[in-house]
Amino acid sequence: MRIAIIGCGSIAATHAQCLKKLSGLDLVAFADIKPERAIAFAEKYGGNAYASMEELLAQETVDAIHICTPHYLHTPMAVYGLTHGVHVFMEKPPVISREQLRELKEAVKTSERQLGLCFQNRYNPGVIKAKELLASGKAGKIKGARGIVTWSRTKPYYTESGWRGSLEMEGGGALINQSIHTLDLMHYLINDKAVKVDAVIGNHHLKGIIEVEDMMSAYVTYPEAVGCFYATTAYSANPAPLIELDCENMTIRIEELNITCFHKNGETEHIQLVGKPGYGKSYWGAGHEDCILDFYDSIKANRRFSLDLDTMESTILLMLGAYESARTGQEIKLL
Ligand SMILES: NC(=O)c1ccc[n+]([C@@H]2O[C@H](COP(=O)([O-])OP(=O)(O)OC[C@H]3O[C@@H](n4cnc5c(N)ncnc54)[C@H](O)[C@@H]3O)[C@@H](O)[C@H]2O)c1
Repeated sequence: MRIAIIGCGSIAATHAQCLKKLSGLDLVAFADIKPERAIAFAEKYGGNAYASMEELLAQETVDAIHICTPHYLHTPMAVYGLTHGVHVFMEKPPVISREQLRELKEAVKTSERQLGLCFQNRYNPGVIKAKELLASGKAGKIKGARGIVTWSRTKPYYTESGWRGSLEMEGGGALINQSIHTLDLMHYLINDKAVKVDAVIGNHHLKGIIEVEDMMSAYVTYPEAVGCFYATTAYSANPAPLIELDCENMTIRIEELNITCFHKNGETEHIQLVGKPGYGKSYWGAGHEDCILDFYDSIKANRRFSLDLDTMESTILLMLGAYESARTGQEIKLL
């Protein structure tokens, strides 16, 4: 399969390295509005460079594109790709508004190509293990959960990017950019069926510098469980996000490859998992390769990729609901 990458910034290098490693995939072209970036990728990985996605798709025959651009461009670029006959694998977040979600759903409905969403942390060994523990019934029902992300993002991270920190281009801050994975994992591990969300946002350390939040606290309610979610990018370091599930028979704490089960009889069980080496920043996790491989295996086998818009819609609605709640001061019903 012939593949192109659109947007040649930080995360694009991770996609390029994964694609170069996987067999049967031929990385043939790159586009970036900063042409020197597309040229640098073409020189490093081989292929042709373009100054826009439209030009690339007009000149090249490709089977799929990877969208690695700023958030506000994800939906329009994915719609363009799907309506121009290519499969689309897109970085998170797939949308930044309900209007974009409607547009993307419409494009998916009318296209014969697949749309894959890069929620690579669902392939983390800790998440897979926790899902197994829950499915085995040993843990019992989930009564509550918490997901906590405390990371550091300083002024240059926002001001030097040209898009981060702008509500119009980033669509939000700590939640939509850094912590969407942890919200998604908490939601996925509980059961995907949040009933309502009540959230607040704030900005503690980059007030007046960025328009978006550097802190969100969201209280999410499920039919049989409550979950709380906290995210901030105003911390001094980037520790592993914590996801904890308070179950009938044990509390399961997941911190990347470390799982601790606090049994109700007082025993503590540590499970140390082994992960693959990742590409790029360690806090991105090492799931890109598995996620990308699964996407192309699904296309080759003509089966639906598991992380498509249908599967991920409830996470997207939870994220949009949390922002709406923070904006309006109201609890937002999700089901
Ligand atoms: N899955 C993850 O864990 C993860 C990690 C990091 C980033 N991301 C996501 O990846 C995306 C990109 O983030 P980044 O950190 O690489 O940003 P970045 O700013 O480093 O790169 C974005 C690139 O897109 C280019 N671009 C902008 N407008 C364009 C256009 N119209 N056409 C073509 N290229 C254009 C920019 O010039 C830049 O080179 C974001 O959505 C981000 O949330 C995901």
